[in-house]
Amino acid sequence: MKLTVVGTGYVGLVSGTSFAELGNDVICVDKIPEKVDRLNNGEIPIYEPGLKELVDANRAAGRLQFTTELQPAVRASDIVIIAVGTPESETGAANMSYVYGVADEIGEAVNDDKFRVVVNKSTVPVGTADRVRSLIADKNPDAKIEVCSVPEFLREGSAVKDTFNPDRVIIGTNSDKAAEILTELHQPLTDNIVVTDPRSSEMIKYSSNAFLATKISFVNEVANICDYYGADINAVTRGMGMDNRIGPKFLNAGIGYGGSCFPKDVKAIKHLAEVKGYYPQLLQAVNDVNEKQSLRMVDHLNVIFNEDIRNITVALLGLAFKPNTDDMREAPSLKIIRSLQEYGVKVRAFDPVAEDNARQLLEGDVYYAENALDACEGADAAMLVTEWEECLQVTPEKLKSIMKKPVMIDGRNAFKAKEFKEAGFIYHGIGRK
Ligand code: UDX
Repeated sequence: MKLTVVGTGYVGLVSGTSFAELGNDVICVDKIPEKVDRLNNGEIPIYEPGLKELVDANRAAGRLQFTTELQPAVRASDIVIIAVGTPESETGAANMSYVYGVADEIGEAVNDDKFRVVVNKSTVPVGTADRVRSLIADKNPDAKIEVCSVPEFLREGSAVKDTFNPDRVIIGTNSDKAAEILTELHQPLTDNIVVTDPRSSEMIKYSSNAFLATKISFVNEVANICDYYGADINAVTRGMGMDNRIGPKFLNAGIGYGGSCFPKDVKAIKHLAEVKGYYPQLLQAVNDVNEKQSLRMVDHLNVIFNEDIRNITVALLGLAFKPNTDDMREAPSLKIIRSLQEYGVKVRAFDPVAEDNARQLLEGDVYYAENALDACEGADAAMLVTEWEECLQVTPEKLKSIMKKPVMIDGRNAFKAKEFKEAGFIYHGIGRK
């Protein structure tokens, strides 16, 4: 099939490349010329394992192109996938200006009576497929276009793997013809294809992300209670997760969820409720717990140092919001570092790939270390912030020989507490006493 994918962020670039890999002809469009130039030179603007190899191979095979020109691409395509950003606006609502701008341009581009499917892959408010359809019709009442919702569930850091192994594909459309075309497109990826109406499909995306965020805030709240009673959250979640109705995934307590999706999507679904006069108490609580969770790291530091942390040096192991990505959007490390700086703490930080992005977001004096051990050199305390392999490899023995004080605050509950304690460390996890 001939596809245009609009937007070359995580979703657009990964799904466009994957559809090319499945044998389709794909044109990826982005309005930023420098980004398109870089992609045409074989440079990948994001860090995502496995993506470069796939882009290179499909460009070489002539199935994948990058351009700034949306209109000719749309005219040449059977399917147009909208994968532009829907960032958070001041009210918490998703900012829809990019999606609507693309809809206008699609309407202007079409000059024949060919049947085309327009797919919303961006995470969008319920009702967006209808809105996009009417925007296209405003520009071009004769356009034979069916607007559908096919949400994307890939995770950063494992985006390529997730795209080729989806748990399910949701196709939201009221048109049998569009359902047939989109089923054929996605069939090579999975048999678990659910066809529903566009509004339910849009809701599936928001509620899936909100549910996962709820699991994380729930478990973080339980961890905070564990701290008061001397229970160990890792043991608690192991026991809980064995119940098939609960399941073991997304029960890792820590410093709260970050990234480009969960924080924004929880606020956006909350906003969808509020504009209808319904107050979503649970979603509000999910957000509130998360807002505070990263600062538990600083609370632990204050407890260990008897509220006297001015001028001490703290090493942060990891900066990105999760491992295997350079994405710093809503990364808990940002809040932690800003709070430490307010207390007058000196910060040494290490991240294998997110350093450049972190430098753009952080102010003040931060020493960016070469590696995890360099970060911990002479530090009064170390904090595990992102569970990168490079950070998990540090051993208590090695750290003890280079740190000023043996203190580890494990924000991901990823280290073996016993090993650190036996080596003479003060070890605090999240919800681990
Ligand atoms: C998420 C969804 O998983 C994905 O389906 C959607 O398409 C986009 O949003 P992503 O943000 O890339 O993906 O990462 P994910 O692995 O889900 O982690 C999100 C955040 O939750 C991270 O900050 C992570 O550290 C945190 N998290 C995750 C926890 O704190 N505990 C957990 O048990 C799991």
